[in-house]
Amino acid sequence: MTVAPKPRSGNIYADLAGYYDLFCAEVDYAEQCAFARRVFNTFACSGGMDYLDLACGSGQHLLVMQDYGFAAQGLDNSSEMLALAAQRCPAAQLHLCDLAAFEQQGSFDLITCFLYSIHYSHPLAALEQTLQRSFAALKPGGILLFNTVDARGIQNDAGISTSLKHDDAQLGFRSAWHYRGEGEVLDLKLEISRSCNGQSEQWQDAHVMTALTFSQLQAMLAEAGFVVQMLEHDYSVLQQWNGASFNALVVATKPLA
Ligand SMILES: C[S@@+](CC[C@H](N)C(=O)[O-])C[C@H]1O[C@@H](n2cnc3c(N)ncnc32)[C@H](O)[C@@H]1O
Repeated sequence: MTVAPKPRSGNIYADLAGYYDLFCAEVDYAEQCAFARRVFNTFACSGGMDYLDLACGSGQHLLVMQDYGFAAQGLDNSSEMLALAAQRCPAAQLHLCDLAAFEQQGSFDLITCFLYSIHYSHPLAALEQTLQRSFAALKPGGILLFNTVDARGIQNDAGISTSLKHDDAQLGFRSAWHYRGEGEVLDLKLEISRSCNGQSEQWQDAHVMTALTFSQLQAMLAEAGFVVQMLEHDYSVLQQWNGASFNALVVATKPLA
């Protein structure tokens, strides 16, 4: 059995793209989109159905939201992930861009960012930019919806693991967060393994995300101009955040006037 580290491109999602959908097989995109539509119908009052998914990855949310009737656009900084999104949603307009650098003005009724991807805006100053640009990109009455974690609630190295068979190979995937207890760095560690015909390869990487508390986040959203509702991290109901849990869904509304 040989173990060889795979070459790295410097962008974990560029390296991961070919396997991404396999490793997300258990993510319930339909449930998340049904939740987004429910939130949209409850909180948005901008009048249209123009939709942007930040860090859209391979376009799974774009596809479902398009089926709901939204005019969908996606943004991601990985051309490999966007190529998958383009295949899945040929009608969607896609932007190769950093989360903190997009420049649309007053264009969208709904902006989403799922799978904690808002935390990829790093450092805090970049996250601040992402929130400000989202505010600018929304129409009055439009909403920004994303899920988030409070740094104080990170369970170090707990992670999630997936193992599955693909063609003749056995694939393993593990991702885990690690928070050092202070500061704005949230470490994401990824491990991928592939075993086939007695040969084994391993691939490891680390990525820096942004750690912050919910009070810091709420202050940044308010500073950007948003009115903020925090909901429990449960896609099956619309339930106000209980003030104690460390996972939440944020609904940030751009006021009408
Ligand atoms: C965990 S995946 C989530 C993809 C998709 N939202 C989903 O739920 O399947 C994170 C995505 O964020 C993208 N990404 C990471 N950092 C980014 C940044 N600074 N700007 C734009 N996209 C970024 C990656 O390329 C990847 O597609």
